[in-house]
Amino acid sequence: MSSPRNITLIATCAFSLEATLKREIQDLGFTNLSVADGKVEFAAALTDIPLLNINLRVADRVLLKMAEFPAADFDQLFDKVKSLPWEDWLTQEAKITVVGRSVKSKLISVRTCQSMIKKAMVERFKEKFRIDWLPESGAEFTINFSIFKDVAQVSLDSTGPGLNKRGYRVGVGEAPLRENLAAALVLLSDWKWRRGAVSAPLVDPMCGSGTIVIEAAMLARNIAPGIHREFAAQSWPAIEAKIWEEARAKARAAIVPSGNSPTIRGMDKDSRRITDAMTNAKRVGVDRDISFVVQDIKDLHLNEDHGVVITNPPYGMNIGELRELPPLYEALNKAMENKPGWGLYLLTPDKSFMRYFKRGRPDKIRKIYNGPIEANFFSYAASSR
Ligand SMILES: C[S@@+](CC[C@H](N)C(=O)[O-])C[C@H]1O[C@@H](n2cnc3c(N)ncnc32)[C@H](O)[C@@H]1O
Repeated sequence: MSSPRNITLIATCAFSLEATLKREIQDLGFTNLSVADGKVEFAAALTDIPLLNINLRVADRVLLKMAEFPAADFDQLFDKVKSLPWEDWLTQEAKITVVGRSVKSKLISVRTCQSMIKKAMVERFKEKFRIDWLPESGAEFTINFSIFKDVAQVSLDSTGPGLNKRGYRVGVGEAPLRENLAAALVLLSDWKWRRGAVSAPLVDPMCGSGTIVIEAAMLARNIAPGIHREFAAQSWPAIEAKIWEEARAKARAAIVPSGNSPTIRGMDKDSRRITDAMTNAKRVGVDRDISFVVQDIKDLHLNEDHGVVITNPPYGMNIGELRELPPLYEALNKAMENKPGWGLYLLTPDKSFMRYFKRGRPDKIRKIYNGPIEANFFSYAASSR
């Protein structure tokens, strides 16, 4: 029997990835999702918290929504937070951390809001548990608040370290992509890896530590991104350990064996990056699904008739590096020149790229944030056969 969907969860993500995240959540069987900037909100059961944390590829974190209420002054904030049933979720020994932000609101000082929220929770605990002080000697519970136009949303973080931290990455070079952003780039491309679809090769000719190709291989083999890591909600008394075990066992059983996946190739001219990429791929168990080669993009050859290139070239953040970019773009243009069956998906803040890639206007340019950097995701779909 399935559990009642009597809690509200908020999955957060980078701006512009909301629609991709929404699709992922729908694919896991959730309906009636409401989407806002950087988040998707939906009704769920308690037992869904492990499922979502283990399986979502694009999300940053999964929050349990405690309340949304007007908070134009500190009294309103304090009283409402104190009235919430925190003891249903936190242990008496909980170490309470409060993080958040306030935008276009009267309660502008984030620091004062943090201490006010914590004070309200401590007061409630003192009354409920009949204690004089909180030892805070146990697991950390992070309370997340956001105040926008004097309306506060308060939630409990079920994730812990962000969901981008899959746990496989040890070696990285300069500017590695966040793992959940790399997964989003693959999901936004027209790469066909799904069961029943014609499989096509995927190539990242400037793969660095391999994040894009590793996330692609995980998708192709249906390896859940959170299968190897721990989550904050594992210390919540409300969720039994067996629910986590069941969710992990289900994810393990769903993995497609190696050898059935399409061709995935990663190249980089720097041999240290290829060593990193191979180590990372091995840690997540996809080393047999990807071929890595030390290769300059000038030597890139796309032999098949169909496929996709997904890549994020160096960003050229200073003048010296900027000069190195046009030859990379020209090499990519040359390799893809007579290859209409290949799609290109490229993430860079550098708009000059379009001058060098001669396939005409991109089908789509999405603004995507790579951490604090505003980048463009240029999409050139393959022409149909
Ligand atoms: C922004 S990084 C890619 C980061 C990667 N997506 C990751 O997550 O680790 C760009 C990569 O392009 C590589 N690169 C620069 N010039 C190249 C060239 N001519 N041929 C191949 N790779 C090159 C660099 O060594 C660097 O690893």
